[in-house]
Amino acid sequence: MTDATDNAARAATTEASAALTTSAILDLEARHGSGVYPKRPIALVEGQGVRVRDADGRWFLDAAAGHGVANLGHGHPRVLSALSAQAARLVTCAETYPNDRRAALLARLAGVTPPGLDRFFLCNSGTEAVEAALKFARVATGRTGFVALQRGFHGRTFGALSATAEKRHRDAFAPLVPGFTHVAFDDLPAAEAAVGDDTAAVIVEIVQGEGGVRPASGAYLAGLRALCDRTGALLIVDEVQTGFGRTGRLFACEHHDLRPDLLCLGKAMAGGLPMGAVALGAALGTLPPGSHGSTFGGNPLACAAALATLDVLHDERLPEHAADLGDHALQRLAAVDAPMVRAVRGLGLMLGIELRTRVTPLLKALLEAGVLALPAGPTVLRLLPPLTITEAELDTVLDAVELVLRSAAR
Ligand SMILES: Cc1ncc(COP(=O)(O)O)c(C=O)c1O
Repeated sequence: MTDATDNAARAATTEASAALTTSAILDLEARHGSGVYPKRPIALVEGQGVRVRDADGRWFLDAAAGHGVANLGHGHPRVLSALSAQAARLVTCAETYPNDRRAALLARLAGVTPPGLDRFFLCNSGTEAVEAALKFARVATGRTGFVALQRGFHGRTFGALSATAEKRHRDAFAPLVPGFTHVAFDDLPAAEAAVGDDTAAVIVEIVQGEGGVRPASGAYLAGLRALCDRTGALLIVDEVQTGFGRTGRLFACEHHDLRPDLLCLGKAMAGGLPMGAVALGAALGTLPPGSHGSTFGGNPLACAAALATLDVLHDERLPEHAADLGDHALQRLAAVDAPMVRAVRGLGLMLGIELRTRVTPLLKALLEAGVLALPAGPTVLRLLPPLTITEAELDTVLDAVELVLRSAAR
């Protein structure tokens, strides 16, 4: 270790880490991180509203929102005040002990999730929510099979990864959990051919996120619901990415009046804190006590943040705002005349631009222009800005997107 990195490593253990330079941060993460993440060449150290600042003092418009987590932007004052009050009161409390914040959150979730869902398993991430949904579906039905969709993404733990279709996520980790069949998305006859007597559940995203920002049609979703009703399979809807206002409704199910048996939640649920949940309908019956659990699940700190998040989403009418701005963005993007654009898709502030080329150079150009964006697969540019973004701020993002699309086309 050089003197410089030794000093940096020491600084990282103290409050002086706030003074680490970009190159020291990049170097420490390259040396001591797992290596599984492809890293961008900037280090983010602060966030305020829809902007984030890097260690060199440069501010960026954040149209990635921590992969769709920061729906309220960064540092929302009501989340901060809920967090500091709860941190001073009680941070940890295993679910075996009932707790006031958790009880309030459970009741609140029952009031806002689609009708028929009124019990919740609380956990810490999207993949855990999916994992729990798969386990509960097997227990409730006594069946073992699952039908999932091509291009679907449900997480990285073994069960959720088995539901995930893409080979690039799966192949290094085979063998995965048996019993999963993947069929074409938005193709009802394909699902009808795959669901059988041993199907415990069908799992679907209302808008495929990682798979390229692809909204399912209402007819398809209604068809899946009817198929599950006919065959006794359960319907798992994965709203880890679409939930909490992202698509212009609090939950994307509401666009189609869809009633899942299990609803998976995560990402934006707790204003940036790690939290996930699976909502359970009556078809789940009684789950055996002790059959599943999580040390951090339902901890009072995350519950307090989730309650504040739901308050802000409601009081600031953020789903409605996302719907309006999403329409505006889709209109603007559809009018962009750049030969490299193959298609523009989205719902609310979940926006995808499918390209005729790979997306990575465009993400780099956007970063240089001061905008953080995301890929959704190799050829789709994805925008997931905070729902608190103003029209003027969104126009700045879209101006930058338009410019890089046009420049790249030349
Ligand atoms: C639809 C969907 N489900 C599940 C997950 C997994 O969530 P996490 O990364 O919190 O485990 C993701 C993550 O992107 C997702 O988009």
